Amino acid sequence: PRFWAVVPAAGVGKRMGADVPKQYLEVLGQPVLQHTLERLLSVEAFSGIVVALGLEDGYWPDLPCSTHPKIRRAPGGKERADSVLSGLRSLENEADPEDWVLVHDAARPCLARTDVEKLMATLKDDPVGGILGLPVSDTLKSVDAGQITSTVDRSRVWRALTPQMFRYGTLRGALEEAALNGWAVTDEASAIELKGLRPKLVEGRPDNLKITRPEDLPLAVFYMERQCCE
Ligand code: CTP
Ligand code: MG
Repeated sequence: PRFWAVVPAAGVGKRMGADVPKQYLEVLGQPVLQHTLERLLSVEAFSGIVVALGLEDGYWPDLPCSTHPKIRRAPGGKERADSVLSGLRSLENEADPEDWVLVHDAARPCLARTDVEKLMATLKDDPVGGILGLPVSDTLKSVDAGQITSTVDRSRVWRALTPQMFRYGTLRGALEEAALNGWAVTDEASAIELKGLRPKLVEGRPDNLKITRPEDLPLAVFYMERQCCE
C-alpha cells in the first residue's frame, strides 16, 4: 500500500484573532503552512499530499510549496472533518482502499519527520491504524457548573495529536457516514471509533504543538530553533 497525506488548512483561526488565517502567519520568516508542508515533504514515503484550502484563500499561490509536484489542492469545507473528507474524495481515482492516509493539521508546523516515520513503522501491519498522542501531565477534573464532580483517572486519558493514520477505504467510509448522519467528529480517530474499531495510540513528541492562540507563536519559534540543534 502507498502513503498519502491530507492537510486540512481551511480554518479561519478564530482563537488566534489575527487578520490572516493562522496557517499563513509567519514563524521564523516562513508561513506556518510552508513549514508544515516542508516537514511532510521530508518524508520520502508519501506518494502525494493534498491540502484542503478555504474557498476565499488568496494566500496559497504565494506559498513556495504550492507548485511542488507532490502537492495538490482540494476545496475545504465548513468543519475540519468536511475539509478532510474533501481531500479524501479528491484522491478517489488514485488511492486504493488499502492505501494509508495520514491526516495532519496545517496548524502543526513543528512536526518531526521521525514522529511520522515512527507512526508509519508502528502501524504499517495494523488492520485499522491509529494516531500520535501524548499522556497528560496535569490532574484532570470533571466539572459541572464550576464545581468539581470527580477526578479523572489520568492513566486512561491521552491527548490526541496529528498525524492520524488510517486506511483510505476505512477512513473515507467512516467520514462519509459521519457527514451523512450529522455526527460531530473532531478528529479522524473519533469517526473510526464510531465504527466500533479501536485505533492505536503511538506516543508522539511533546513539541508537536497546534498553533491555536497568539502565545503559541513564540513557542513554535522556540521548538523549531531547538529542533535545529538535534
Ligand atoms: N480546518 C479546516 N477546515 C475547517 C476548520 C479547520 O481545514 N473548516 C483546519 C485548520 O486550518 C487547522 C486544523 O483544521 O489546520 C485544526 O483546526 P483548528 O486548530 O481549530 O484551526 P481553526 O479552525 O482555523 O482555528 P479556530 O478553531 O480557532 O477558528
Ligand atoms: Mg477550529
